[in-house]
Amino acid sequence: MGHDTRPRRFDSVSPAPADSAVIPRHVAIIMDGNGRWARARHLPRTEGHRQGVHATRTAVRFCAARGVQALTLFAFSSENWKRPSAEVNTLMSLFVSALEKELPELVQNNIRLRFIGEREAFSDKLKHRIHEAEAATRDNTGMELVIAVSYGGRWDITAAVRCLAVEVAEGRLDPASISVETLDRQLSTAGLPDPDLFIRTGGERRLSNFLLWQLAYTELYFCDVLWPDFDEDALQAAFEFFAGRERRFGRTGEQVSHERA
Ligand code: FPP
Repeated sequence: MGHDTRPRRFDSVSPAPADSAVIPRHVAIIMDGNGRWARARHLPRTEGHRQGVHATRTAVRFCAARGVQALTLFAFSSENWKRPSAEVNTLMSLFVSALEKELPELVQNNIRLRFIGEREAFSDKLKHRIHEAEAATRDNTGMELVIAVSYGGRWDITAAVRCLAVEVAEGRLDPASISVETLDRQLSTAGLPDPDLFIRTGGERRLSNFLLWQLAYTELYFCDVLWPDFDEDALQAAFEFFAGRERRFGRTGEQVSHERA
């Protein structure tokens, strides 16, 4: 499907299951394994990233068609700047071209875009594209697509704490009134529900400095599929895993069953 780039409605993907209660409101994905996918085919790593864009498109269409409220994708971590400069440059160009190409379909499907991460190091072109894409989708009311680029969970928490410290220093905030919600409001994900379902492809079982604060109660799903191969069936398996989880948020299983009855 990924090669047809004409804008179209997401209802071209298979329909949502009947029970919307088991659909995660917010899905967060670490898209891992592009490099290994390419290496296995004797291709340059950058070709894996190019193929990864198709899987990204599939994930966006799938989640939007199922009524997911927010989808957060980890596209580039604070630590990814340490990769060889040719790979970093390819990834940055890929973000620019993907934004340009995908924007009409996102607009048509009422999707709102938000970028999170440290933008300072981006080229002017990428900064401009991000600004343009966020502005063009600002009034959309459908799924929020959050792209984490140059993002780190520790950076996010540190920046939020710094903002609160300034408010305290200026006398606008009483330290005794600081709550979980106060910090939530300063994070780059402010206004979004915490992720219900976290997916990491590519076989590693770690969070790699993704949404550290926001993932406190998230169901964690790890799979060995490499990101370019992560298709609708693989997404469906992750959603089925989520549907089978009992979410207790610190309570006992008996309490949860009692509340459901
Ligand atoms: C991790 O695979 C993947 C990345 C660092 C880049 C992810 C980017 C895309 C999928 C491009 C599309 C994204 C958008 C938002 C348009 P890896 O290189 O770490 O793979 P490896 O672990 O096999 O080396």
